[in-house]
Formats: sequence, C-alpha cells, structure tokens
Amino acid sequence: MTSSIRPKHRAAIDAGVEVVRRRWSVSPKFGLILGTGLHRLVEGVEVDDTIDYGAIPSFPQSTALSHHGRYLCGKLNGVPLLVMDGRCHFYEGYSASTLMLPVHVMAAMGIQALVVSNAAGGVNPLFSIGDLMVLSGHINLMWSIRGTADDGTIGRAVSPRPCVYAESYRQLALAVARQHDFVAQQGVYVGVTGPTYETRAEYRMFRQIGGDAVGMSTVPEVLAASQFQIPVLGLSMITNVAKPDAPETVDADEVVEAARHCAPNMNQIVSAVAEKLGRII
Ligand code: HPA
Repeated sequence: MTSSIRPKHRAAIDAGVEVVRRRWSVSPKFGLILGTGLHRLVEGVEVDDTIDYGAIPSFPQSTALSHHGRYLCGKLNGVPLLVMDGRCHFYEGYSASTLMLPVHVMAAMGIQALVVSNAAGGVNPLFSIGDLMVLSGHINLMWSIRGTADDGTIGRAVSPRPCVYAESYRQLALAVARQHDFVAQQGVYVGVTGPTYETRAEYRMFRQIGGDAVGMSTVPEVLAASQFQIPVLGLSMITNVAKPDAPETVDADEVVEAARHCAPNMNQIVSAVAEKLGRII
C-alpha cells in the first residue's frame, strides 16, 4: 500500500522525518493525537523536545480553538512516543494529503500503534456528556461521497483495512474503564467536515445511518495510519449529546470545557497503551 504513495507526498514524508530525527534520535513506539480540550492527556509525558509544525516543510498550521500545532517528542511510562499536540481540520482549508502528512511522518518513524482522541457529539441517545466512546468503526462523510483529488495521496481506489480499529486495543481500553470504574461506550464515529455543528435533522440522520457520535476530525488520520498498516485506538470524549427533538445549540467553548473535565479517564487508557507497548515491543 505505502508503495503507491505519490512521489511528491513521499518526499514530504521523508523531509518531515529528517527534521524530527535531527532533533530527536529516538524511535517512537506509538503516536498520540490530542483532540480538542484534551491537552491533559500529556500529563505524565516526559517531553524531550517540542517541534513546531512551522519548522517542518509542507506541514499544516493549526488555527482551531484549543489546538497548538507541534509534535511533542518524549516518553510515557518509559515508552517513547510522538504526540501531535494540535491537529488540523478539513474546515481550516487543508487537503486530505496535508491532514494525513503528520501521521505519515509518525508512521515512517516506526510507530507501532496510534491513539487518536477527539471531542465528539453523541447521537446515540443512551450516551451522556462525559462518556468516553471507544471507536469500533467510522463513517466517512468528509469526502467518501464527493471524493477528493488527493485523498490519501494515493492514485487509485483503496480499501481501509477492516481491522484498523484494532480489537486488542479496544478490549484494553474497555478493561481499563472497568478497572477504574468509569463508563466506556463503544460505537461508530461519523466524520464530517464542519465547521458548523449539526442541525437537528442532521443529528437524526447520523443516528439513522448507524452513527453513535459525530465529529470533525479523526477520519483522515485513521486512514493515514491504515495506509501504513498501523493499528489504531480511537477515543471520543462525548462533550454534548444531540437532542434532535429539542431546540438546543452546541457551543465550541462548552465543547472544549467538557473535554477538559473528562480527560483524566482517557489518560488512564493512554497510560495503559504505553504499558502494553512497553511489554510487548
Ligand atoms: N458535532 C460535530 N463535532 C463535534 C460535536 C458535534 O456535536 N461536538 C464536539 N465536536
């Protein structure tokens, strides 16, 4: 699969790897992407170096609320990791290949797993604000219908790996939730471009097509990992729950605030992933 990445994008990946390696010679065992309001996930990470995306050729610059735009290079529980502290979104005007580039660089540096976190709106009526959802799959409404010229930078039709949301990491996350006595749901993430939050009719539709939560990120990154056969653990923080029959609106600051409160539970899971990788690699 990776051999079919176009040469121009391959060159951008190589350039990114070179910049990071010049600053940090360690091989990361896993990657972590911080979602909106989820900066507390890096509590406990010993940071060796911080590399702004601006220092890396072709990298996107995050403009979204509560997002930086940098890699943190360091260790969690003694296990080396690369953190994407701040992610970019389709609604900021980036192409799919640009959104995928930071993940492709982590993949080329040798990560064995990717943990992707996000803030999401619950469309499953059984969900509550503050629940954590472990992703069992996604529905790509970002470009699967209209298509893009450069999705994944691959010049032919490709299928995401069926097991990209790895069962072993899902089970680990659920076990951590049981041990630490908090609720972890499992469900399907609907990826949309945003930046508008949904109308009540759209929330209703997302539920009807099989979604449990909706958000504006994650899908490009998961597809990027899939192209490199890297297993993913996807974690959504449910920051608001859609009530299609009540006239309620979602506010971006409230989403950030809700995510901040819920981050400690996610932290336990990320820490367990590091321990698992420390044991098996
Ligand atoms: N919709 C889309 N993205 C989101 C939401 C939502 O309701 N909540 C947090 N991110």
